[in-house]
Amino acid sequence: MDPTLRDLLDELFRSGREHDAGEPEHARRFLNLEPETARLVSLLIALGRRRQILEIGTSNGYSTIWLASAAQRTGGRVVSIDLSLPKLAAADANLRRAGLRDLVELHAGDATEIVTALVGPFDLVFFDADRVTAPRQLDLLRPRLTPDALLLADNALSHPSEIAAYLDAVDRLPGFRHLVVPIGKGLSVAHRPAPAAQLRPG
Ligand SMILES: C[S@@+](CC[C@H](N)C(=O)[O-])C[C@H]1O[C@@H](n2cnc3c(N)ncnc32)[C@H](O)[C@@H]1O
Repeated sequence: MDPTLRDLLDELFRSGREHDAGEPEHARRFLNLEPETARLVSLLIALGRRRQILEIGTSNGYSTIWLASAAQRTGGRVVSIDLSLPKLAAADANLRRAGLRDLVELHAGDATEIVTALVGPFDLVFFDADRVTAPRQLDLLRPRLTPDALLLADNALSHPSEIAAYLDAVDRLPGFRHLVVPIGKGLSVAHRPAPAAQLRPG
C-alpha cells in the first residue's frame, strides 16, 4: 500500500479510537474495523478479484477506504450505506483525502430500504452495521449476488447473540461455505464458488 494512504489510515484509526473514547452516545461513535481485519478483507478482495463491492455500515469511511483501495487494484467500485448523515459527511471528506472518492457511491438511509433499490450485482457484501437487520438485507440481496459471491460480516465473535440469526442464515445458504475467522472482533466469511462454466476470465 502507498505509504501516504497507510499513514492516513493509521491516523484515522487512532483519531477514531480517541473520538469513541470521549463519545458517550453509542450511535455517534465511529466503531471502526480492527486494522488486522481490514487487512484480511483487503487481501480477500485482491485474491478473489472482487470488483462489485457493497458495504453496509460506512461510519466515517475508515473501512470504506480499505475497500476502495483494494477495489482500485482490481478495477472495482464500492457502494456503501449508512443512516448517519454526519458520519457520511466525514466519510466523504476522508475518501477525498484518500483520493478514492470517485470509486465510492455513498447512500444515506436505512440499509434494509436502500438495498431494496440497489441493482447490483455484487460479488462482495461486507455487513458492518447493526447485525440484527443483516438477515433481512441478506435475503433481499440474494438475487443481486454474482454466481461467485463472498459475504463478510464483522463482530461474529464480539456480539454473538446479535449476530446469531445472520450466522444461522449464512450457514443455511445453498452453495456457500462458511467459517468464522478469529481475527479482530471475529469475521464471518462465506463464499459461494461459481460453477466452473461461469468463472470469470483472468
Ligand atoms: C460498526 S459501524 C461501521 C464501521 C465502519 N465499517 C468502519 O469500519 O469504519 C456501524 C455503522 O452502521 C450504521 N448503521 C447501523 N444500523 C444501520 C442501518 N440499519 N442502516 C444503515 N446504517 C446503519 C451506523 O450509523 C454506524 O455508522
